[in-house]
Amino acid sequence: MEVDDALRMMRDPLGAPFYPQVFQVLLVITWVIHIFFVTLAVGASVSTIWGFRRGGEYELRLARSTARLTPSAVGLGIVTGIAPLLFLQTIYDPIWYASNALTGFWSVIFILVVASGYTCAYVFYLKGSPEGRLLWTSVAGLVLLLLAGWIMHVLASVSIRPEQWRQWYAPDGVADTRGIQFHAANAGRVTFLLPLQGALSVAIAGLVYTWYRSKRADADREFLTWVAARARRVGIVASLLYSAAGVWWGLTEGAEMKVGIEVTVTLGALGLALAAFFALHRNPVAIGPRAIAAWFGSLAVVAVVREVIRSSALAEFGYRVADYPFRVDWGSVAMFGVTSVVGVSIIVYLVLVLYQAGLRSADQATISLRVDRFGRVATGMLGAWFGFFLLVGLYAVLVLK
Ligand code: HEM
Repeated sequence: MEVDDALRMMRDPLGAPFYPQVFQVLLVITWVIHIFFVTLAVGASVSTIWGFRRGGEYELRLARSTARLTPSAVGLGIVTGIAPLLFLQTIYDPIWYASNALTGFWSVIFILVVASGYTCAYVFYLKGSPEGRLLWTSVAGLVLLLLAGWIMHVLASVSIRPEQWRQWYAPDGVADTRGIQFHAANAGRVTFLLPLQGALSVAIAGLVYTWYRSKRADADREFLTWVAARARRVGIVASLLYSAAGVWWGLTEGAEMKVGIEVTVTLGALGLALAAFFALHRNPVAIGPRAIAAWFGSLAVVAVVREVIRSSALAEFGYRVADYPFRVDWGSVAMFGVTSVVGVSIIVYLVLVLYQAGLRSADQATISLRVDRFGRVATGMLGAWFGFFLLVGLYAVLVLK
């Protein structure tokens, strides 16, 4: 059987429940959110370890904040990873399941790696961060996060090289079912996506933090100016390296997948544009909102580039998302749509509460009447939606059997 036939036949025979291109767009959007949080966790871990090793007054203050940020970012990264996974499994099931099987050992222990990484980061924040004890837990957490990112990278890399699967599964004709070998990787891609995006995500978080904190009457402006200057410096250096790693990725994997020029030029220019952004803002304390908008815009470009590479790699074998069979299932679409509206409303409510409450010290924190009213509507919708699910479950169990 040819690779083209295998890919076609491994698709879900029921087809996708909606237009496949819509899933592709959702995959790109949700991956941006996922990669922001996981790379933020990586960057925040490094900042924590650096701060406690350096030991100056400001370094320690910053390290305690990033120690607190790390487990939250890991948690959000894990939760937001589920969304792109859902869309990936819907339109790229043949390649995703094949790469998970070929890397079986690592995909099975992946959850353990992620859970242990989270636990280490949490233990350090809870037990070690006030005095800087147990720093090894923070280091172990960082190592585990990097391992998780590496596994993700290998899974993505194996998935876009279907012509090699047979050789990897049965080298010299003998099946190797351990799934322990990392069969494919691209050093430029992983350097770009993991450590460098980690540095940029934490630099952006630093700028958002200083912008937000400077709104408070009791703000320590000297400390905030120090944090913003550090974030800007990290941003400039990391962006230049980001540009170089982007070119490296484009000239290697990009060229292999026949989109070398497009990837090289786009990612090289993206890194330089980011470096210019950081360099031109000489007073970075107030640029938080602009910085995060620029960073999400950049991550969206990267997400599209990943998609272009994957599409070009698979087009070689006649696999196109647009050709994925589908049958619109309005029940699933309605469930998905309402759940999204309810979920996003609750998240917006929580973000607004955190934003408004943090503008004053803990004993004076309040939220506006409008946010309170919005919260009542959002939680009411959530309660109603839970009730509806319960009724559907009871109907399925008692009536449909
Ligand atoms: C917490 C540790 C994690 C880290 C550091 C991490 C990092 C990464 C990185 C670097 C990539 C891009 C790989 C590449 O394109 O080469 C990626 C992709 C992805 N991650 Fe994560 N991830 C983590 C956890 C998770 C979890 C828990 C899930 C699922 C629940 C998840 C779902 C995904 C998905 C679906 C992709 C896209 C894969 C593709 O498009 O081929 N990740 N992740």
